[in-house]
Amino acid sequence: MMLMNKTAVVYGGSGHVGGAVARVFAREGARVFLAGRKLDELEKHAAEIGAAGAAYVDATDRDQVEAHLDAVGPVDVSVNAVSLHGTVMGTPLTELDVSDFLAPVSYGLRAHFVTATASARRMAVAGSGTILTFSTTAARLSAPDQRQHRTGGFGTACAAIEAMTMTLAGEVGPLGVRVVCLRPDAMPETWGAGAEPDPQMQASTALGRMPTLAQVAETAAFVASDRAGAMTRTVVNLSCGSVLD
Ligand SMILES: NC(=O)c1ccc[n+]([C@@H]2O[C@H](COP(=O)([O-])OP(=O)(O)OC[C@H]3O[C@@H](n4cnc5c(N)ncnc54)[C@H](OP(=O)(O)O)[C@@H]3O)[C@@H](O)[C@H]2O)c1
Repeated sequence: MMLMNKTAVVYGGSGHVGGAVARVFAREGARVFLAGRKLDELEKHAAEIGAAGAAYVDATDRDQVEAHLDAVGPVDVSVNAVSLHGTVMGTPLTELDVSDFLAPVSYGLRAHFVTATASARRMAVAGSGTILTFSTTAARLSAPDQRQHRTGGFGTACAAIEAMTMTLAGEVGPLGVRVVCLRPDAMPETWGAGAEPDPQMQASTALGRMPTLAQVAETAAFVASDRAGAMTRTVVNLSCGSVLD
């Protein structure tokens, strides 16, 4: 098992991505702690996958994140899979309010900054650890896609999370801590029951299909494991080839 003897915290642990990642981490032997704002769902998922704990933690609140990590104890892997609230979709940037543009940037960066730095501080003292952040292909959409989707501040938020990942990785790498961003394209399974993949989106990938939750979660487990010990300060492209870098 890839994550034997590892303790992992998954923020957004009852969400689509966080839930899938936590399930694979538990299967791979990790002691998993789910953190988020839907305690009922977190507890239910924790029981299903055999997680070590579930707790209410607002990932944007530094005091709550610090107190939770103090309670959990030494952490080997930190995963932030929280959703970015506040995005106004469909409005061209030229017509978007400044506050609407900045809302997902501020929310996403804050949540990732708070959780990543809280773990990094502790991992640096321990001399090892891995931090995983999440962005999306909105960070790298082609010009036609950008016009089509009009993602407001969302793409900028994702690009900023990737940039923060690089900066932190450079700072804490010499202290033994790896920091990697995972960048999937849209996973139709997360759109709700019966949702069909968009043929236009599928056609825009090199593989002619979208990534699956299982593929993303399995990659997260590999990247979190010692097998990926040479990997840091990078973005893992899980787009099925919809973006090239
Ligand atoms: N789904 C996709 O197709 C896809 C594709 C590419 C990348 N991603 C990325 O993957 C990540 C997770 O996406 P998802 O599809 O799993 O979203 P999701 O199903 O909505 O799950 C996100 C979870 O995060 C929680 N959350 C949000 N704000 C939080 C906060 N401040 N503190 C604690 N928990 C918080 C949400 O619950 P509450 O809001 O109720 O707290 C929810 O449980 C996001 O970064 C997303 O951009 C997703």
